[in-house]
Amino acid sequence: MQTQVLPVNEQSIALAARLLQQGELVALPTETVYGIAADARNGAAVRKIFAAKGRPQDNPLIVHICGMQMLRGIVAEVPPRARKLAAAFWPGPLTMVMPRGEEVSDVTCAGLDTVGVRMPSHPVVQAVIRASGVAFAAPSANLSGKPSPTNAQDTLADMDGRLPLILDGGESAVGVESTVVSVTGEHPVLLRPGYITKEQMEAVLGEEVQVSPAILEKLKEGEVARSPGMKYKHYAPKAQVTILQGDFAAYRQYVAQHAGPGVWALCFDGEGAQLPVPYIEYGRDHDGAAQAHHLFAALRELDRNGAQIVYARCPEQDGVSMAVYNRLIRAAAFRVVEL
Ligand code: TXA
Ligand code: MG
Repeated sequence: MQTQVLPVNEQSIALAARLLQQGELVALPTETVYGIAADARNGAAVRKIFAAKGRPQDNPLIVHICGMQMLRGIVAEVPPRARKLAAAFWPGPLTMVMPRGEEVSDVTCAGLDTVGVRMPSHPVVQAVIRASGVAFAAPSANLSGKPSPTNAQDTLADMDGRLPLILDGGESAVGVESTVVSVTGEHPVLLRPGYITKEQMEAVLGEEVQVSPAILEKLKEGEVARSPGMKYKHYAPKAQVTILQGDFAAYRQYVAQHAGPGVWALCFDGEGAQLPVPYIEYGRDHDGAAQAHHLFAALRELDRNGAQIVYARCPEQDGVSMAVYNRLIRAAAFRVVEL
């Protein structure tokens, strides 16, 4: 299959809408990362997403909408907490897991009785949904296991020949995937951290948001993931990544002791020039939003440079940094060295 990359304009939006209506795939930018869209009600269309990504069938997809009226048929009910969070954070990078509606395909939900829904703020997504009338399922546009793409070039690198159209809408602003929160149970539970933080949701809800244990630690043998996506090795570059937890002086010393062929540093802005190995910087220290914006592109750049061993500076674990830490620790296959 020939993959076209088109700039965003009226014609390309109309083409994307037509492809979605016909049950085809379209890759497109969102404010978080690039996604691969297919009609969430059409099981045969959604199956093509799993094939294009090489994604395990038991990992459910997020349904994207552009207005509250589109929830009809997608969810069975909108719990009161979901209304509050939607009023505060939609459109935006927040996915809510709700009771599943009867029109969503089984394939989209991987057979679960819940469905993850989000209303993105990106104008291209909104335009495509409006033009097509299609609520679409869309995972990140990477091959399963690789870092999520945050621009059209990285999307093409993974999806060339696997789908007909990539809309090029420039770089994704946020850089990591949406926050996923479950609002179906007795307590709200954070299933995947993102740009909308636990603290922000707690301020709106006036209650604690529990953190799923799978977010910051490795699942123990036999433990069940509430969010199936959490159990897979994820975001992994080809290089072996190790997170070094400690201050910059200790980091620099450790890297100097372990310098050698193929060794790279993944560090914060302004630090690289002080290191004896080649480096990629991924945002300012203490600035989770900047780190989120750069992380996935940095991991892909390390691969392009042939990095084999990567020592990464450790992000914090609260606010937006929780999302950065959550992705990086998976890229590092949970290898953390305390300095
Ligand atoms: O920012 C994003 O959310 C991007 C863009 C394209 O919108 N999409 C995205 O989708 O990250 P994906 O498929 O890569 O990640 C979906 C995550 C997975 O961890 C999955 O297990 C979880 O959401 N998820 C989806 N539906 C769920 C459900 N019903 N219950 C629990 N977890 C669910
Ligand atoms: Mg993904």
